[in-house]
This record gives sequence, C-alpha cells and structure tokens, in this order.
Amino acid sequence: MIVAIDGPSGTGKSSTSKAVAAQLGLSYLDTGAQYRAMTWWMITNGVDVSDPAAVATAAGKPVLVSGTDPAAPTITVDGADASGPIRTQEVTSKVSAVSAVPEVRTVVTELQRSIASAAGKGIVVEGRDIGTTVLPDADVKVFLTASPEARAARRSGELKGKEATDVAATKDALAKRDAADSGRKTSPLAKAGDAVEVDTTDLTLQQVIECVVTLVEEKRAAR
Ligand code: DC
Repeated sequence: MIVAIDGPSGTGKSSTSKAVAAQLGLSYLDTGAQYRAMTWWMITNGVDVSDPAAVATAAGKPVLVSGTDPAAPTITVDGADASGPIRTQEVTSKVSAVSAVPEVRTVVTELQRSIASAAGKGIVVEGRDIGTTVLPDADVKVFLTASPEARAARRSGELKGKEATDVAATKDALAKRDAADSGRKTSPLAKAGDAVEVDTTDLTLQQVIECVVTLVEEKRAAR
C-alpha cells in the first residue's frame, strides 16, 4: 500500500501523514526533510546554493538516510543527525533553490523510490511531487490545500518559541516558497490528475486524518 500525500506547506501534510501511517501500521517518509538535509549539507560544506551548477556538482556527495518509523522519523547526513538543523530559517529560505536543481531531484527521487519499494507493509510518502513524479502508481493519492491565512497561522504556531515570527511575515514567506516550488521546471508542486483534493481550511487535524484513513481502507477493501 503506497499512499502519496502532496500539497504546499502549512496544509497539515506532516501531521496527517504521520498519524495515518501510525494508525494503519505503515512506514512514513518526509521527502521535504530530504531536500532540507541536502540543503543543510550544501550550506555547511560551503557550496554556493545560488549557483545551480555548483549545487548540481555536489548533489551526489552527501549520504542521506531516512528512518521511516512514523512515531520517530529521523534523518541523518553522512551519519550526523540532521533533524534539528534542517528546520532553521536559513535552510527554509534556501531549500527551494536547492530542490529546483534537476540533479538534486534525480538523486533524491531515486532514494525515495528505493525506500518506498523496500517498505514491507507499505508507506505514506509526503511531499510536493510524489503523486505526479516519484510514485505515479501510488495506490492512494491525496492533495491537501488550505487558505493562505490558515496555512500561515498554522506555520507561525509551529515556529513559536523557536524563532521570532509573525503571521504576516510567515504568509509572505510561504507565498514566495509556493511560487518557487510551483514554478520550477523540473517536477513542480502539482496535484496529480487522479489525486483526491482535500481542503483542510475548516477541518480539524482529526477530520483530515479520518478522511485519508477512509480512502486507504476503501482502496484495501476494493482489492
Ligand atoms: O515540506 P517541507 O516544507 O519540509 O519541504 C521543504 C522544501 O522541499 C519545499 O519548499 C519544496 C521542497 N520539496 C520538493 O521540492 N519536493 C518534495 N517532494 C518535497 C519537498
């Protein structure tokens, strides 16, 4: 059972994906964390992330390893725990540029496919291009959306206490990242034609989880 959950940030993708995987006994993969880890490695190794040629040359160098337990997902880069550093403002502001480089996408997509095919009971994979490019044959495809205001409010809430933030600034930053992620040439953020779109603006997290669990159970029953 392969479940692809795509959509922009602040739509509840991570919380939903982890909970659905835990509830259904599936593995979980956060593909955004992989692009963030790649970005963190580039920054700490002195690669100029504004230079696509430099990023392309370095793309194959870091060794990324993702732990896929939904109760405790992990990511290491060359053996070092990257879970904390990949959430900094610096990485967040640079990840769109790094993830737009085709060589980066080739390396990371290959890794994602191998993790998905090794997941015994199945996996929930969250990202931007999972249903369209990485796993186009996924059994269930979901595309989460939410109003810009709801997304900014959620993201600000997550950041609270970690870094200074306000809702208006978060809304601007999200809009910029969306534009970059949706506008890039290679594998942009997009809804697959056969994905079920769920607008989470007025739904609780629990309602979104139930909606996706139902889609998976219906698919299982139809087999
Ligand atoms: O989900 P996130 O905010 O952690 O993702 C970080 C960035 O990685 C996001 O701005 C776009 C990129 N990304 C991508 O290009 N493709 C994916 N499958 C997942 C994330």
